[in-house]
Amino acid sequence: MTGDKKVLFSGMQATGSLTLGNYLGALKNWVSLSDEYECFYSVVDLHSITVRQDPAELRKRARNLLTLYIAAGLDPEKNCIYYQSHVSGHAELAWILNCFTYMGELNRMTQFKDKAAKHADNINAGLYTYPVLMAADILLYQADVVPVGKDQLQHLEITRDIAQRFNHLYGDVFTIPEPFVGRVGAKIMSLQDPSKKMSKSDENPNGSVYLTDDADTVMRKFKRAVTDSCANIAYNEEQPGIRNLIDIYCACTGKTPQQTVKEFDGKGYGEFKLAVGESVVDVLRPLQTKFAQLQKDKAYIDSVIKNNGEKAERFAAKTLRKVQKKVGFPERIR
Ligand code: TRP
Repeated sequence: MTGDKKVLFSGMQATGSLTLGNYLGALKNWVSLSDEYECFYSVVDLHSITVRQDPAELRKRARNLLTLYIAAGLDPEKNCIYYQSHVSGHAELAWILNCFTYMGELNRMTQFKDKAAKHADNINAGLYTYPVLMAADILLYQADVVPVGKDQLQHLEITRDIAQRFNHLYGDVFTIPEPFVGRVGAKIMSLQDPSKKMSKSDENPNGSVYLTDDADTVMRKFKRAVTDSCANIAYNEEQPGIRNLIDIYCACTGKTPQQTVKEFDGKGYGEFKLAVGESVVDVLRPLQTKFAQLQKDKAYIDSVIKNNGEKAERFAAKTLRKVQKKVGFPERIR
């Protein structure tokens, strides 16, 4: 239904600010994927309300996220970047799939257990059926591949199980999605604890560099980055802090770890940290300039939201009508 190209779907939450890790590890590498895949990137605002949100803040963050994706180089003519809440098919399919998902399966979801523990005062049914909505997102577009982090693999697994169960009952309705293993980007760790991934939900803001951080903030965070007492710039397991800084430097400059180790041979950590910080500032500067320009161009962003929302709607409607027919809903009279 999408021509020759395979379909790639990814969803992102507009909660928390995107980090350098999100950019170097994922976003940056997605720019060229539209040559090969029909790409859908949904700002999943339906998922966001499973935990309490401030409405004005959520709206602002969702728009900023969508704008940031474009600023980072995702061409909205070639990639469908849209709001999940603008395509009602997500919620409609999620309801149907809820009826093909067992509570026993949902009870096993580790993210639900974590989130329920974290938000003990608001363990709502949406939090529980979150993976079913995610399955609906993916299956609605007949996605072949889904780029997801490790923490979302279990949700992709349940998506496959639900799709297979449905197909078994009704014939080949859904494409069975695979995790996307393509050009993997750099895995960036926290600047404060190099054993942890850099995360947008880190409580310690010094551990993460945000894409919207100004140059002074970026430099300050790198100056404070945790290293070790070896006083030697080398790329190995025993020096995870330095190794992470080398990875960041390489991702920003295109150099290899070997070249970097050579370049800083005999130099101090202080000097190296400044160089890494500057390489990051150089990468963020054009992105932030573009973001600021786009933010001012309200009419353009509105047109992207409208056109891509409509495009997503067209894709989604095809799958939804098929599913509705399969489960026995009456035909629409036209
Ligand atoms: N649950 C994902 C996350 O928190 C976001 C998401 C929602 C998603 N729907 C998706 C990711 C569909 C991939 C595909 O990161």
